[in-house]
Amino acid sequence: MAFGAFDLVSVSSDERYPATGTVGGQRVTLRLMADGDREAILAFANSLPQHDLLFLRRDITRPDQVDVWLQRLALGDATSLLLLDGNDTIAGYATVDRNDLPWSQHVAELRVLVGPTLRGRGMGRLLTEEAFRVALGMGVDKVIGQMTVDQHQAIAVFRSLGFQPEALLRDHVKDRDGNKHDLVILSHDVAAAQRARAAAGVFDVVNGGQGA
Ligand SMILES: CC(C)(COP(=O)(O)OP(=O)(O)OC[C@H]1O[C@@H](n2cnc3c(N)ncnc32)[C@H](O)[C@@H]1OP(=O)(O)O)[C@@H](O)C(=O)NCCC(=O)NCCS
Repeated sequence: MAFGAFDLVSVSSDERYPATGTVGGQRVTLRLMADGDREAILAFANSLPQHDLLFLRRDITRPDQVDVWLQRLALGDATSLLLLDGNDTIAGYATVDRNDLPWSQHVAELRVLVGPTLRGRGMGRLLTEEAFRVALGMGVDKVIGQMTVDQHQAIAVFRSLGFQPEALLRDHVKDRDGNKHDLVILSHDVAAAQRARAAAGVFDVVNGGQGA
């Protein structure tokens, strides 16, 4: 399937991906991440600046941590979309990771990462929009993003996508050099956003137009 104008909720992930299109002048493909991507993800993670890895739930430069990630995907507790460049090399990803707590199953964390060379061309927006569609498919109502307060660009990007600051946790992140950073949590009510867009006729509504 090709993507262009976003049709975020009318087909399941299995039908929708892989999807290919041009974003910011770059030919890219989106597809669901699976077991066979282990080595390519490790290579991608090891190519990233240290600071980009800070906000992640786990250290994805470590093979054992990538295995835990793949396990969550296999169990359906998380869904990850890979962004591949024209050479079929991983250039970014988005993960929707459902909260483990029984009373917070309607909340998922969104983690988006675009490799430094492809930033600022709309890839982060594409991945985030598609991740919203995935979140709705998982039955999630609210999506949060967590990042250190000095990630100004990431905060600006998330805000431009409708996320609102919800909490600030002081000295919550310690980097590998032992320096502490404040963590900001931004949130987005995806169900409300989807209803608003559907009402505006921007895209099809879940279940073939039967309403959200
Ligand atoms: C956050 C990140 C995914 C953004 O990816 P990206 O491909 O550069 O983002 P995009 O080019 O799609 O930009 C998305 C929006 O943010 C805006 N934006 C981008 N950089 C910005 C900046 N420095 N200041 C203000 N707005 C900015 C864009 O204009 C765009 O808005 P628009 O579509 O209305 O024009 C990328 O910077 C990244 O991987 N950072 C490291 C990991 C991270 O911090 N992830 C977030 C925590 S989960």
